[in-house]
Amino acid sequence: MLSDRFGRSIDYLRVSVTDRCDLRCTYCMPTGFKGFEDPPDWLTFDEMERVIGIFARLGTSRVRLTGGEPLMRRRLPELAARLAALPGLRDLSLSTNGTQLARHAADLRAAGVARLNVSLDSLDRDCVAKITGRDCLPDVLEGLKVAKAAGFAPIKINMVAMRGVNDAEIDDLVAFCIENEFVLRLIEAMPMGETGRNAAYMGLEPVQERLRKQFGLVPQAVELGGGPARYLATGDGRASVGFITPMSQHFCASCNRIRMSVDGTLYLCLGQEEKFELRPLLRGGASDADLEHAIRQAIELKPQQHDFTRQPGKIIRFMSQTGG
Ligand code: GTP
Ligand code: 5AD
Ligand code: SF4
Repeated sequence: MLSDRFGRSIDYLRVSVTDRCDLRCTYCMPTGFKGFEDPPDWLTFDEMERVIGIFARLGTSRVRLTGGEPLMRRRLPELAARLAALPGLRDLSLSTNGTQLARHAADLRAAGVARLNVSLDSLDRDCVAKITGRDCLPDVLEGLKVAKAAGFAPIKINMVAMRGVNDAEIDDLVAFCIENEFVLRLIEAMPMGETGRNAAYMGLEPVQERLRKQFGLVPQAVELGGGPARYLATGDGRASVGFITPMSQHFCASCNRIRMSVDGTLYLCLGQEEKFELRPLLRGGASDADLEHAIRQAIELKPQQHDFTRQPGKIIRFMSQTGG
């Protein structure tokens, strides 16, 4: 088992399989951004399988594939199938913007992806186009429909709540998720790069209070994943809403995860700069024992918590570079 200097067990690895995306969500990647990783620097599927296999031997039981948009990486279901077969890995999941989900959902399911989180910030077509830079709502809704039919359950919907942008639509999203048996998660925008800083941040505490009363929500006992959301549910358990509040009520004390970017860099915290490059080792003939040692060294660098609230301008990399 991997554990850090603060006694936290690290058993959740988030792997960004590409830093490209077909959308430009205002809180994630700037319009016209050109600083993408060089394809020769992208880890190959063989390299990813090797590193993640070592993580799994060290006790990592959960892996989430992220991006950029992970479905932009060609033959992703093939990678998923290889990872799903790794001994020790019991939870393989994917976070996607949903635009290409209709095409890939069945293959992902067959490959062993167990859980799906889909970004959807609004049900208003114009509002989605404004936030994402593309008129993509119909594609995302179709993707959700196909993914549900392919057997993914429950699908989680990620909504970054932004004041004056989509906050008036929270209730519509709640109703949509209840109707379709999706789990809505409301997320506070984090100041990653200039885009995240410019997102119209709103704290979710008042929303939580209001929804509690309006929908009769109570804290939910059942875990719905390995991430930081806190869930409320209706008394009959039919509907759940999750709250991800890195800004107003951070959850770093129970952090269980690190990230790996597409070029094989380990990022030890979403809201800090500490990192460790595995690619030079991977391409320089390192043995599995060398890699294991390097991973343990990297975990030592994991900071106690993010600095988003104390130093909002500190993190200059965009969310798309490491995944959410
Ligand atoms: P599960 O709970 O396992 O389903 O996954 P998740 O909620 O961690 O994954 P997802 O990719 O859907 O992320 C949802 C939101 O949580 C995104 O805005 C992420 O940036 C945020 N998030 C996930 N992990 C962390 C973390 O370690 N720190 C912070 N600050 N935010 C996180
Ligand atoms: N703050 C909070 N969440 C973000 N995401 C992307 N950028 C940000 C940000 N700046 C979310 C997306 C996606 C998830 C993986 O990360 O909504 O669903
Ligand atoms: Fe973990 Fe850093 Fe996220 Fe806090 S901000 S939960 S320490 S990754």
